[in-house]
Amino acid sequence: MPEAIGGYFELELRTGLTPYPDAVGFNCARSALTALLQARAAPCLHLPHYICHAVVEAAQAAGSRLQPYAIDMKLELPQLPELDAGERLLYVNYFGLKDAYVEEVLAPHYGDRLIVDNSQALFSTPLPGIATLYSPRKFVGVADGGWLANPPDRLGTLPPSQSTHRFGALLGRLESSPEDHYLAFAEAEKALCLTPVSAMSNSTRRLLDSLDYTTIADRRKANFTYLREALDRYNQFEPGLTAVQAVALCYPLLLGSKAQTQHVRQALRTERIFIPCYWPEVADAAHSPDLERHLADCVLPLPVDQRYGHEHMQRLVDRVHWHMSTY
Ligand SMILES: Cc1ncc(COP(=O)(O)O)c(C=O)c1O
Repeated sequence: MPEAIGGYFELELRTGLTPYPDAVGFNCARSALTALLQARAAPCLHLPHYICHAVVEAAQAAGSRLQPYAIDMKLELPQLPELDAGERLLYVNYFGLKDAYVEEVLAPHYGDRLIVDNSQALFSTPLPGIATLYSPRKFVGVADGGWLANPPDRLGTLPPSQSTHRFGALLGRLESSPEDHYLAFAEAEKALCLTPVSAMSNSTRRLLDSLDYTTIADRRKANFTYLREALDRYNQFEPGLTAVQAVALCYPLLLGSKAQTQHVRQALRTERIFIPCYWPEVADAAHSPDLERHLADCVLPLPVDQRYGHEHMQRLVDRVHWHMSTY
């Protein structure tokens, strides 16, 4: 078909800003993982207990046997397992705070047998030769999409995908409250789980190519620093975890008990401060070690994103303090 000339306009977006122009675009990060494992024929994948069930399902869909591993309070592996031929190890760059560990410990040890899951670390650049996953919608306003940096050679052609029907919650939140569109958001997420491995849609690709990543990163860093200075003394994570120059997903505040965490999360919600839970399925799984269960129960991932500034962070800290003190 010849290229269209004239007629009505599409949504008008800047171009040329994508952070990972060489990465392969998928409909979501889990598709990127399934395709990677299939192309590499990995019979066994070591992956953390502390991970979202979507990743577990993506690895199972590729036919890999799963070997779960435990982490410690630094969110690191207490011992590095030896890998047999064909085995891989996936590590999550938790909250976007584990760049140094990936670069200085895991990458030198495992080389290309390491898979880095940067779904929580959009701004952490891939290391040479190491397959790296991204899930941009956890950081910016797109409805779907995933990237695989340093893909294998034999990835094959991906079927196309479309996102038009998933824009409802994104547009809705521009026009009215998030509560009004939460159902549409949750349904779009559920439907995305059921879509087969496919390429990133053109609309998502164009949106991701139009964003001001420098401003986004600066705002996240400033917000993270604000929360770190205000809340580190209450945080049961070691101070080293948050003492990094990173563009984080969130500020992870680890509290002492499940009951206190539930109290604070619920109280914040009544004030329209919405804090997710990573990941309820880990807390519920019978095989989860105690620490992973504790993390799933007791981490409050506080938002530091680019929509917010100093005054929002002040309110957030004030309300967190208050609800911690009233427990
Ligand atoms: C650590 C991690 N990796 C990967 C994924 C999957 O990302 P996507 O929803 O883009 O498939 C998730 C999902 O929430 C996640 O938490």
